[in-house]
Amino acid sequence: MDLACGSGVLTEQFKRDSIQVIGLDSSERMIDLARVRTRSEPGLEFVRDDFRTFQLNRKFEAIVSSSNSLNYARNLTELSEIFQTVEQHLSDNGFFVFDTITEFGMKYSNEKYLHVDLGSSRFVIRSVYNPQTQRSVASVILPSGIETHHRIKIDKIDVSKATHETRLKIFESFHYPNFPSACFFVLTKAY
Ligand SMILES: C[S@@+](CC[C@H](N)C(=O)[O-])C[C@H]1O[C@@H](n2cnc3c(N)ncnc32)[C@H](O)[C@@H]1O
Repeated sequence: MDLACGSGVLTEQFKRDSIQVIGLDSSERMIDLARVRTRSEPGLEFVRDDFRTFQLNRKFEAIVSSSNSLNYARNLTELSEIFQTVEQHLSDNGFFVFDTITEFGMKYSNEKYLHVDLGSSRFVIRSVYNPQTQRSVASVILPSGIETHHRIKIDKIDVSKATHETRLKIFESFHYPNFPSACFFVLTKAY
């Protein structure tokens, strides 16, 4: 499962690698975009649902959430809710893989302008991090308007705490050498 799949770029890649996959996102716009973008790829399934509460009555060998999607939880209680929901959908030997922006990363990009040029699209991101609330607000300035993204910081200690109500445990975690702006996690079920 590609959790918080956005426009389905990774979901599509999994399918091309012959992995049976389902994409889930809460944004109707993103799900519509994912369906339109991948319409030539038969057998791809996208559902609109919330990563805190989805109930698909299915188990997955791997659940992946890329590009800091879990930072969109509103607090650590919600992160724990996501973990509990993921746990219900993960097969016994399954992996939950995700990346997060850490507090270091949020402080590093605080009040900086990031200019992104993808050729077909260009935009500017300006993030402001509040160390008291441990949240960042990012304004994404696009030709079509301004998007606002609210995120919490997620460090290894936060992931560890959020697993407490679950059987999930950190199997592995790592970050860029000398630059811990993002952290990558693999969680498995503990026995
Ligand atoms: C930074 S985008 C990443 C999208 C995709 N994973 C990728 O790598 O391109 C974050 C995604 O999280 C989704 N999201 C935010 N809150 C969510 C929620 N409560 N439940 C499910 N998806 C959510 C957003 O709609 C958005 O598509």
